[in-house]
Amino acid sequence: MHNKPTAPETSIALRGSIFHSLADPQNYSEALAEKNGCFAYFEDGIIVISAGKISALGSAATILPTLAYDVEVRDCRGKFIMPGFIDTHIHYAQTDIIAAYGAQLLDWLNRYAFPEEMLFADKQYATEVAEFFMRELLRNGTTAAQVFGTVHAQSVDVLFEAAQQHGMAIIAGKVMMDQNCPPQLADTPETGYADSRSLIQRWHNNGRLRYAVTPRFAPTSSEAQLKTVQQLVEEFPDVYVQTHLSENESEIAWVAELFPWSKSYLDVYAHYGLLRSRTTFAHCIHLSDAEHQQLASSGAAISCCPTSNLFLGSGLFNFKAAQEVNAQLSFGTDVGGGSSFSMLRTMHEAYKVAQLRGDSLTPLKAFYIATKGASVALQREGEIGCLSVGQMADLIVVDPKASEICGRRMATAQTLSEKLFILMMLGDDRHIAQTWVAGQCVHEAG
Ligand code: GUN
Ligand code: ZN
Repeated sequence: MHNKPTAPETSIALRGSIFHSLADPQNYSEALAEKNGCFAYFEDGIIVISAGKISALGSAATILPTLAYDVEVRDCRGKFIMPGFIDTHIHYAQTDIIAAYGAQLLDWLNRYAFPEEMLFADKQYATEVAEFFMRELLRNGTTAAQVFGTVHAQSVDVLFEAAQQHGMAIIAGKVMMDQNCPPQLADTPETGYADSRSLIQRWHNNGRLRYAVTPRFAPTSSEAQLKTVQQLVEEFPDVYVQTHLSENESEIAWVAELFPWSKSYLDVYAHYGLLRSRTTFAHCIHLSDAEHQQLASSGAAISCCPTSNLFLGSGLFNFKAAQEVNAQLSFGTDVGGGSSFSMLRTMHEAYKVAQLRGDSLTPLKAFYIATKGASVALQREGEIGCLSVGQMADLIVVDPKASEICGRRMATAQTLSEKLFILMMLGDDRHIAQTWVAGQCVHEAG
């Protein structure tokens, strides 16, 4: 097992345009969001990192005179400094089936996802993918993620080991799945419980790592297995839970057949005590008003996955309904159903999904959801999601000039909102100039 990199003793400072979200900007104008303290922006700003954490932040004019003579100031002027993105739903074992042609959810699982996940019985294979996956997250500016493993317990061991090498805040779990899947991928209520329990003991609250109990989705767990999921959550009340909900019409009809007693898809999870804070439901596209209300009032989080929902033809997420009930909203890439590791691309597609429903996703709201909002949804807001003093120094340097068109368009922008919008519509992995985790530069472009 690798040790977490130790943070350097000396402070280091970065100078650039610093932006971070602090509170939900709703649909406010930029002026109202600023007045309500929803974000902070220092066009010429300095952020100081000491012992892996943020120790000072402000305008260059106020911070520069306070710096000790030996603090190195890295010049990132012309670039944005922001919190690293938080991806709340992604399958690392589907890295190598991203962009698989021509299927909707249930067919796609059988044709692409399940055969690939079988390969994770081989620990060496899993290790190589996990290491690539972490580098790919960092290359895309994602510094924290909630991740599905496969049914194999060792898939999660190697994933956490890879995360530890970079000091990342990763939440992950072994898939629990005992029916409606290939026999090679099936656990049992007993083995699923025992493997999950021992992974929790090994990894949950181990440094920056957290465990998520991971029933794949209602159709692939028997009622006996869902009972063991409930048992784990009762035994370890601070563990996370991650699963899928209401993604695809055929899936929803199938759940109604499999659980004839249930009032709704969400009711199946509610019945087994999974409707709680620290549970993340991916997708949530086709929820009824009652389900939206029930989900939001429980404190559970939604992971909205627009690139996946468009790619698999699943449907259009209802931002308005989620906002009306004040749901804890976050974004997931959902790779390999999702078609990009980039949270900028994810925000780009989210904007278009909202457009197609006649809603509007403001850039301030999109950046909030991708950073601070996700940290609130995951109850990790003291540690990640913004750049306030005392937070872990998980941040990115974004270079608008990394593509010519983005640089040209940025030169015309007047307001902060315009600048952020240009980044989310034209930005991608090329624009992530640097990624820092716990005060260390773990990725630098070029
Ligand atoms: N529902 C159950 N399993 C999966 C999966 O692997 N990907 C997606 N997008 N939806 C699912
Ligand atoms: Zn998924």
